[in-house]
Amino acid sequence: MSVYLNNAATSWPKPPDVSKAMVEFLSRGGANLARGTSSARDMDTLNFVLDCRARLASLLGGYENGDPRYITFCSNVTEALNTVLRGFLRPGMRVITSSMEHNAVMRPLRTLEKEGAIQLVLLPSGLDGRLEPSALRDALSGNHFDLMVMSHASNVCGTVQPVEEAAALCRRVGLPLVLDTAQTVGVLPLDAASLGLAALCFTGHKGLMGPQGTGGIVWEPGFAAQVRPLVTGGTGSYSHLEYQPEELPDRFESGTPNLPGIAGLNAALAWLEATGLTTIEAKERGIGERLLEGLKKLEGVLLTGKRDMDGRLPVFSFNVQGLDNGILADWLSQAGFETRPGLHCAPSAHRSLGTFPQGSLRVSPGYFNVPQDIDVFLDTLGDAIHRLKGER
Ligand SMILES: Cc1ncc(COP(=O)(O)O)c(C=O)c1O
Repeated sequence: MSVYLNNAATSWPKPPDVSKAMVEFLSRGGANLARGTSSARDMDTLNFVLDCRARLASLLGGYENGDPRYITFCSNVTEALNTVLRGFLRPGMRVITSSMEHNAVMRPLRTLEKEGAIQLVLLPSGLDGRLEPSALRDALSGNHFDLMVMSHASNVCGTVQPVEEAAALCRRVGLPLVLDTAQTVGVLPLDAASLGLAALCFTGHKGLMGPQGTGGIVWEPGFAAQVRPLVTGGTGSYSHLEYQPEELPDRFESGTPNLPGIAGLNAALAWLEATGLTTIEAKERGIGERLLEGLKKLEGVLLTGKRDMDGRLPVFSFNVQGLDNGILADWLSQAGFETRPGLHCAPSAHRSLGTFPQGSLRVSPGYFNVPQDIDVFLDTLGDAIHRLKGER
């Protein structure tokens, strides 16, 4: 048997229409975007790309009533975050972020800090991975920052951050806030415009159920105008200009986009709309609850993060006293359970949670898991602990 419990890395399986749309594009569509005529194939590409932008703008609370122009496609949230951070930050700027960040945020910031370009302040989380709004309020009072960037939820322990409070505090002092929604997009409701986000960065292959190689940015138009594009080149538009067009989305979309990926993402978004976020959230919460209660009952399991389902996603990290999490993950993998051990590209988050340098074993069920998957996993985990401890 095989049970997939690594949805925090990428969701699997995908809704069947996702691969169908990709195969359809590659085998029957296949025209480039805005680089041909108005043939049926050209129009087909144009239409599904527009459709996908409009769906993203509607799902994520795009600015100006979901104007699709303010959605930029990227390859993933890492590229989206680099586009925003490297394009906006200028020498001498001060940035505030949290100690719970993924390296998709931390590495661009640390690189700029090491080059002497920016000053970086890290807001520490509690041991449950949560940022306290009062700590942010204190950090902002009397200190000037040019940008705040934070993840909506931890990819290590699933803790959801108080983003409404953080956004309100940032708005009060006019501080642009950039949100990394890698773990929450397609799972929790998001509204970039209501939160007043400068940029909402998302990935397409996790909760959105799309293929790898997709993601993007929801821009606040005034903020976007202050961001230099990382990549410049052909956009299929304004071909008389040798300079990058200022208009969105062209300004940030040079080169042929990942069209098979966008076709798949569009189908995934249609599935998401038909299924509904409320259904997805409720189902994932139920599965998470079952796993969480089971983990709490297993002897020797040291769980990180919150111990109930309020304010958390079904992303669980733990160690077993006296066992290496890599060896445990390997044992489980041979028994058919896919998880992820180690540091999860988030060393700072593990430091905050007290699990650095050993990391933890992460188990992240998804929408397509059934209760039986969890029950069999818990039985197998109990067995693994027993045997691995017995063997030592
Ligand atoms: C919080 C967070 N940020 C960023 C990323 C990077 O995602 P991607 O590889 O799709 O760019 C991840 C992926 O695990 C994540 O969980």
